[in-house]
Amino acid sequence: MADFRALVRQLPSGPFRNYSDIWLEVGFGQGEHLAAQARAHPDTLFIGCEPYIDGISRLLRTIDSEGIENILIHDDDAQILLDALPDASIGRLFLLFPDPWPKRRHYKRRFVSPTNLDRIARVLGDGAAFRFATDHAEYARWTLWHVVNHVALEWPAIRSGDWRHRARDWPETRYERKAVARGRTCTYLTFRRCTRAAETDNEVE
Ligand SMILES: C[S@@+](CC[C@H](N)C(=O)[O-])C[C@H]1O[C@@H](n2cnc3c(N)ncnc32)[C@H](O)[C@@H]1O
Repeated sequence: MADFRALVRQLPSGPFRNYSDIWLEVGFGQGEHLAAQARAHPDTLFIGCEPYIDGISRLLRTIDSEGIENILIHDDDAQILLDALPDASIGRLFLLFPDPWPKRRHYKRRFVSPTNLDRIARVLGDGAAFRFATDHAEYARWTLWHVVNHVALEWPAIRSGDWRHRARDWPETRYERKAVARGRTCTYLTFRRCTRAAETDNEVE
């Protein structure tokens, strides 16, 4: 972990300086989405966070068999990684089908919280996208409410289609496939990190 922190602190310079951007996926599950994005964007460095050992092992097999070179894995809580990353170091962040914790007494376990949104806003670069998906309507509402009330994040959606459909460059995840097979409706939200200058204006208003 000490080595990992030292490595991450150097991003985006050091051994990874030749990548044009760094994208982060929190809770990648078995890693299908992460691997697909890494294949589609070989000039981007990907960091995936996932404490679930079977998921890590599945992704490692894919990385090994396909010779994928642009993925780093953090096998622990994403909050530790977010705290270790430099300011404005991430160009895109994915949080796809996080555990919904549907019981009210468990809401505090949800990954989307004011504290984690502060962490996410700090590491995202100006204008960077934060993609979120869920098949749980109440978690979608919870996330929208917390994001639109965050000074550094915005939701630039224009039409309802913006959240009913996945963008073409947004590969399906395993959890999503199972949810759709069970007839569940998914919500896809793309947020943006405001520019640091606009954030100061928002605070003044
Ligand atoms: C419902 S699964 C979805 C997995 C995958 N994103 C998908 O759509 O198939 C949620 C995943 O988030 C992971 N997770 C939960 N809390 C996490 C945290 N604090 N940091 C990183 N991963 C986390 C879990 O281990 C689990 O694999």
